[in-house]
Amino acid sequence: MPRLFIAIELPTEVKKSLGRLRIEIPGARWVPPEQIHLTLAFVGDQDADMTARLIENLSSIHQPEFSLAFTVPGCFPDIRRPRVLWVGLEPEPLLARLAGRVREAALACGISLEERPFSPHITLARLKLSSGREATAFLRHPPVRTVPVMVREFTLFESRLSAAGAIHTQLKTFPLAGDDNLPMTIPTAGI
Ligand code: 2AM
Repeated sequence: MPRLFIAIELPTEVKKSLGRLRIEIPGARWVPPEQIHLTLAFVGDQDADMTARLIENLSSIHQPEFSLAFTVPGCFPDIRRPRVLWVGLEPEPLLARLAGRVREAALACGISLEERPFSPHITLARLKLSSGREATAFLRHPPVRTVPVMVREFTLFESRLSAAGAIHTQLKTFPLAGDDNLPMTIPTAGI
């Protein structure tokens, strides 16, 4: 069964810029620059029927395009036990709204998702061991500046795990353009 996630693909130049934040940290697994992405939801292993339903639900998401601006580096869960190193993003209501709709689209198919609230970040490295001291050097990077990143679409990816690391394949891309399909006003009875 394919292992699926939904993410925003980044321009090649931006992925290269983010890849340059890599520093030497023992035990760190850095995301290869070409695979750097902004995860909207991880949906895990799904069969063909569920994948088709998910694609149908994701296809109905339309909202205005928006831009991304990167902020400072950070880590999960905290500086004392850094396990994931990432770059943060400026709060963007349209990004939060997109993540919420993607989540609803998956839940509507019966897919169970993590309860954690969406926390916009771009994962750059995963640490196997606790490497607090070395991670501190990563966290000292100044705020990340890149060309503005316009988000015009989002993508359903398959992630195949292999001994050499995950291989990501784009299964389908969904354009944001279209009428914003937030529920408008509730029709008043009798009209
Ligand atoms: P992250 O970027 O927030 O770390 C593809 O594997 C993406 O899905 C990863 O980049 C990761 O998002 C997320 N992911 C992978 N495995 C996951 C899991 N077991 N639970 C939640 N999210 C996962």
